[in-house]
Amino acid sequence: MTHEIAVIPGDGIGQEVTPAAVEVLEALDVDFSFTEAEAGDAVKAETGEALPEETYELAATADATLFGAAGETAADVILPLREAVGSFVNIRPAKAYPGIDAVRPETDLVFLRENTEGVYSGHEDRLTEDVATLTRVTTQSASEQLAEFACEYAGPESEHDGFTIAHKANVMRETDGLFRDTVAEVAADNGVDTDEVLIDAFATKVCLDPTQFDVIVCPNLAGDVLSDLAAGLVGGLGLLPSANIGPDRGLFEPVHGTAPDIAGEGVANPAATIISAAMLLEYLDYDEEAAAVHAAVEETLADGPRTPDLGGNASTADVTAAVIERL
Ligand code: NAI
Ligand code: MG
Repeated sequence: MTHEIAVIPGDGIGQEVTPAAVEVLEALDVDFSFTEAEAGDAVKAETGEALPEETYELAATADATLFGAAGETAADVILPLREAVGSFVNIRPAKAYPGIDAVRPETDLVFLRENTEGVYSGHEDRLTEDVATLTRVTTQSASEQLAEFACEYAGPESEHDGFTIAHKANVMRETDGLFRDTVAEVAADNGVDTDEVLIDAFATKVCLDPTQFDVIVCPNLAGDVLSDLAAGLVGGLGLLPSANIGPDRGLFEPVHGTAPDIAGEGVANPAATIISAAMLLEYLDYDEEAAAVHAAVEETLADGPRTPDLGGNASTADVTAAVIERL
């Protein structure tokens, strides 16, 4: 069966790393049909819309979407795109690879981030010149859906041994209280082990000893910030992939943005996007091909060539070619 894959490179290095990941997918024996669409600052400047209707529709109907990054319009692009695929969880692995000069080479974490609500619900108001407000939304239903996914991901059938619930329910008693209680209850019902950590304490603990943690389930903003922190532990944003999973489709994207400081130079690290493409393969049950891509990226990171963010002097194209050669 042919899988329809939407490809949305976006802005900046999205235009460099997304084609690199597509090249890797094209080198495999998979039945994919790619359709490219526009989103981001450039298309907004041209048409007035950061996310054209046809791009939203494409993501809402494709089997899977590969997204690069959007610049200043990121929120106008990625939040609706995550909604287009009905995504309720953002999976963000943060793993240190052999040969990479990581702050904490023993890091091997997976963040399961709530992906629809919290402080990213978009309910912001400017009441007066002096006062701006934000309404944080937490629902039992979204917390349950995330928890059910987490139970499958990290439960007894998996390679994981339960998960940690990261929250700040000691201060945000209602919103994070509901989140924590709901997730813990679903886990208990499913016989999955959990423990808890306050998100501020987590930030310190994970830096001192990341091996205390494995799978971390957290609210939207906390997952965004803490996974970027974990990126710092493993050697930078150029290495962090992510998957936005919905009931029927998924959207796969690097954690990083458009990297305006290096965009256009052809030296962006394509690893995060290529690993995101490997997660896309896994999602569509191409397990062998996914494992091959993971292995090829891992070997390339260990033996080079490497892009400047990892201390090398190779180009995006050099690294992509080296990954494909190792497939
Ligand atoms: P960024 O992730 O674009 O860059 C942060 C730093 O990491 C920069 O020094 C950059 O050069 C480096 N970096 C990131 N990815 C890299 C890669 N693949 N290879 C080598 N180096 C890499 O974050 P920043 O600077 O905060 O944001 C830049 C723009 O991206 C902003 O307009 C922001 O709105 C947007 N953004 C978009 C996101 C998305 O579309 N999902 C996510 C985060 C930011
Ligand atoms: Mg972020």
